Amino acid sequence: GTTRHYHFDITYKNVTRLCHTKSIVTVNAQFPGPRIVAREGDHILIKVINNVQNNISIHWHGIRQLQTGWADGPAYVTQCPIQTGQSYVYNYTITGQRGTLFWHAHISWLRSTLYGPLIILPKKGARYPFAKPHKEVPIIFGEWWNADPEAVISQALQSGGGPNVSDAYTMNGLPGPLYNCSAKDTFKLKVKARKIYLLRLINAALNDQLFFSIANHTLTVVEVDAVYVKPFSTNTILIAPGQTTNVLLKTKSHYPNATFLMMARPYATGLGTFDNSTVAGVLEYKTPPNTHRSNSTVSLKNLPLLKPVLPALSDTSFATKFTNKLRSLASAEFPANVPKKVDRHFFFTVGLGTNPCEKNQTCQGPNGTKFSASVNNVSFALPDTALLQSYFFRQSNGVYTADFPTSPLNPFNYTGAPPNNTIVNSGTKMVVIPYNTSVEVVMQDTSILGAENHPLHLHGFNFFVVGQGFGNFDPKIDPANFNLLDPVERNTVGVPSGGWVAIRFLADNPGVWFMHCHLEVHTSWGLRMAWVVLDGKLTNQKLLPPPFDLPKC
Ligand code: C2O
Repeated sequence: GTTRHYHFDITYKNVTRLCHTKSIVTVNAQFPGPRIVAREGDHILIKVINNVQNNISIHWHGIRQLQTGWADGPAYVTQCPIQTGQSYVYNYTITGQRGTLFWHAHISWLRSTLYGPLIILPKKGARYPFAKPHKEVPIIFGEWWNADPEAVISQALQSGGGPNVSDAYTMNGLPGPLYNCSAKDTFKLKVKARKIYLLRLINAALNDQLFFSIANHTLTVVEVDAVYVKPFSTNTILIAPGQTTNVLLKTKSHYPNATFLMMARPYATGLGTFDNSTVAGVLEYKTPPNTHRSNSTVSLKNLPLLKPVLPALSDTSFATKFTNKLRSLASAEFPANVPKKVDRHFFFTVGLGTNPCEKNQTCQGPNGTKFSASVNNVSFALPDTALLQSYFFRQSNGVYTADFPTSPLNPFNYTGAPPNNTIVNSGTKMVVIPYNTSVEVVMQDTSILGAENHPLHLHGFNFFVVGQGFGNFDPKIDPANFNLLDPVERNTVGVPSGGWVAIRFLADNPGVWFMHCHLEVHTSWGLRMAWVVLDGKLTNQKLLPPPFDLPKC
């Protein structure tokens, strides 16, 4: 492959949205950030230079990082953050992957403004397993706060309550015409008639899964999380933070000058306030050359913009139907290598809980407590050094322990009335597994503070989603229905609201790998944990030594 060099200069930039101007942290003064385009097999070198007051760290979401965990990016997990005035070169090779991914800051809530597409084209000469698109268009969703998102989360953590919701959702950084003072900030996609467009949809929003639809058009889903799927048509897609979805959009035969709205708004369950507002962009048909507009020409120009119909805020039934349609291609060229036997079974409860308020503190969480979130009752605390470094240099003492519980503290009825054993302990515990362990994890939503869908993201691996269901997972009955033939392969999956999901992966990547809810507020509350995958025997099964410029804490 080719070697590609990038410079990411982290700088402040004044940006105006919703008639509100503020200084935000950007890459190269661009918002959203620059697009990385590479091919499968390419070697990537990105020099990140921190010229702002915040500590910085960038994650290449979905990139396997085989043997190169040092370049993965989550702050205090694989690296200490890049401090003001310092720089770090992220150095990795893209192996066995092609499709749409994205990069984002992985420290505090800086992802709110530091994100951009990461597009991996197939190897030269290799083709897509679907019709060649006329054009490819990345559409990256985000959230905009008029306030400083860093202040929003620190205020929430101090008060123990929920953070203020964002003021708008955005499409390529633009909120669109349905928000006040925002019509000029609308993403427009100009299309020709009778063409196929590949839309690379990315959800970089902090806290909301989104439904997305285009008025009068059908979308064909062909890929999720940079893995091809069996194509299927739908009017609406569901995309969680951390997920990417490629769809084909076939334009109609003639709609000169016609415009259609493309809209996204949240899918949300559980407690709390949700911003149920809508981001909209415009799909506009170009006027074909040699077209003379007469009274008989079909033109929708003066008609009101056509709007798509999106599912209701908590339409779990749509969400379930949609996710059930996602299947691996499982072809000769793109096989689904689902682990058939399992070496280690894990059962993880994921969900929100509460912790008692400290003395002399007034907490704004439920009943005067403060919000907390956990996996198997452990609310994961980040250390003040990096876990990967402590592991590699055998300095785990006082940093982490290797006793992450493989099942919850006290099993209970997860989806019934709230149990009384909801104790959440804070700790830095990891699961340690040998190289090439075949892992199955069943993740169960606890519903303690109301059922909620949690998009769980695993670093360093793709996994197969072999099963999902509602209510309590039953280890005696449910595994019989697992799909081991063509389950979808991805890096972020929604644990169904009031239900469970089962995933399998082969631990063939040595290092320390973060797993967390990609709803940023849940991560902040502790819904996160980490795996240590030990080195294998062969040289290509070992974590490489750290680069010389690895930041220090
Ligand atoms: Cu996209 Cu750990 O995150």
